[in-house]
Amino acid sequence: MADPYDPGREGAEMSFEGQMSYGDYLALDAILSAQAPLSDAHDEMLFIVQHQTSELWMRLMLHELSAARARIAADDLAPAFKMLARVARIMEQLNSAWDVLRTMTPSDYTRFRTALGASSGFQSWQYRLIEYAAGNRNPAMLKPHAHRPDILARLEAELARPSLYDEALRAAARAGLPVPEEVLTRDLRAPWTAHDGVEAVWRIVYDDPEAHWTLYDLAEKLVDFEDYFRRWRFNHVTTVERVIGLKRGTGGTGGVSYLRRMLEVELFPELWHLRTGL
Ligand code: HEM
Repeated sequence: MADPYDPGREGAEMSFEGQMSYGDYLALDAILSAQAPLSDAHDEMLFIVQHQTSELWMRLMLHELSAARARIAADDLAPAFKMLARVARIMEQLNSAWDVLRTMTPSDYTRFRTALGASSGFQSWQYRLIEYAAGNRNPAMLKPHAHRPDILARLEAELARPSLYDEALRAAARAGLPVPEEVLTRDLRAPWTAHDGVEAVWRIVYDDPEAHWTLYDLAEKLVDFEDYFRRWRFNHVTTVERVIGLKRGTGGTGGVSYLRRMLEVELFPELWHLRTGL
């Protein structure tokens, strides 16, 4: 009988004494020991892993969004497009992940819900950073992080920077389009409010895509990102209703009523509004 197959004989590295292995490089000891269910409910592990993987994808999203924003600020749009396309694909990855969570029934969730206390995705600071980076800036969302000066400082720093949308409009202004001055010098911390002058700028781009191809491409990348983001919010609220009905959230909001309200958020409102008039 032939010896069992040994990949080591054809060169596979089999000894990691004194050299970096896969697990070392990826810090798997830290990552795989970070799941600490607080109950003995079977489904709590699913709930934890689902949130932790979402946070890992959000980490990558922030990496891509901030790099994309820097490339737009430098008028180097081609690499920014690649990064924004990746961000939209990550959102889609998170959208598919709801299918796994949906296998958890209300009865399964009730077995460990009290163990969560007041903790909730509402306190996800990476999610707020993504919103702030994109342009949805509500300083009220800083409050749950007041007890963590390090996190608060990151969120404050993000609010002080131009958002992705601010940078897109600055790029449009540099390309010669008539972006209103008050938009270019706006209070960066303030929530965005739709502006007719901004819609008029995008209208110029959409009326003649060939003449403004790069900005047209940028606008569509932003719409793509928001499209996938909206799907994420919709999947979230639908999953939440399926699992907790109309109960209040662990984070203290009205739950589904709050999340439905969030469906109305528009990251890049003028890019959606202009479509009606085209
Ligand atoms: C059964 C699973 C889930 C339930 C029942 C649930 C429930 C809720 C509820 C009720 C809220 C509103 C805030 C509150 O009062 O707690 C909320 C917010 C939030 N959840 Fe979930 N959630 C679930 C899964 C997830 C997952 C997997 C993520 C991924 C990270 C997530 C991320 C968020 C975020 C980011 C918010 C804040 C949304 C905003 O402020 O616009 N949730 N969740």
